[in-house]
Amino acid sequence: MKQKVKSTLQRVIKTAIAYTSPVEREFRLIWPNINSIEGLLVSPAQEHWLFKTARSLPDGSNIVEIGSFKGRSTCCLAYGCKGTKKRVFTIDTFEGNNVDFFHKAFFDEFWDNVKRCGLTNYVTPIKGLSSEVARFWDKPIHLLFIDGSHEYEDVVSDFLSFFPHVVAGGIVAVHDVVNTWPGPLKAWNEVIKHHLENTGSCTTLAYGTKPKARK
Ligand SMILES: C[S@@+](CC[C@H](N)C(=O)[O-])C[C@H]1O[C@@H](n2cnc3c(N)ncnc32)[C@H](O)[C@@H]1O
Repeated sequence: MKQKVKSTLQRVIKTAIAYTSPVEREFRLIWPNINSIEGLLVSPAQEHWLFKTARSLPDGSNIVEIGSFKGRSTCCLAYGCKGTKKRVFTIDTFEGNNVDFFHKAFFDEFWDNVKRCGLTNYVTPIKGLSSEVARFWDKPIHLLFIDGSHEYEDVVSDFLSFFPHVVAGGIVAVHDVVNTWPGPLKAWNEVIKHHLENTGSCTTLAYGTKPKARK
């Protein structure tokens, strides 16, 4: 009985927060647009995490995303930049790979989705392989979201090549840190998490912050 009252109370509090906190209200408003974009996130928890995290960053922050696909995660991040000078730089070949899901080029579809959400001012797409983009990247990064190639070597390389640009206290998030994706899982466990503190997860998305002074 006591447990039932407790869980009812928790539900009521959760609902009250969902209706009164500005972040939750905004998320409910943008959700139909986000949910109309094809993508590969664990919904709606990860969309919510990306939006809330981008929104919490200081004005002027740079967000780098590796792996835009059709813009589902990109738009979550960009909605968190709306009305500010924060920007999302999103890297993808946008080319497709002749197999399965990514069988044909998808840049036009990606950009149509960004336009439809009214987010073009907040998104800079960068066409190319992440390893090539890393060679000329020169801006500080406040949030790095890695969701490109899921091969172990590529995830490690994406992390190691962009991490030097992440500011102290900046956030690094990696998607698909889960048994069904051995590449990101191994990269996270063997390399990435050892460079971060305050680590946590949102379903299959693992995150942490760059320490102020290197461990
Ligand atoms: C899992 S999908 C990204 C899903 C996306 N974040 C979403 O919300 O739906 C991975 C993307 O990474 C891109 N990609 C794969 N390897 C890449 C590489 N080496 N450089 C740049 N993009 C890459 C693919 O073209 C694909 O669009």
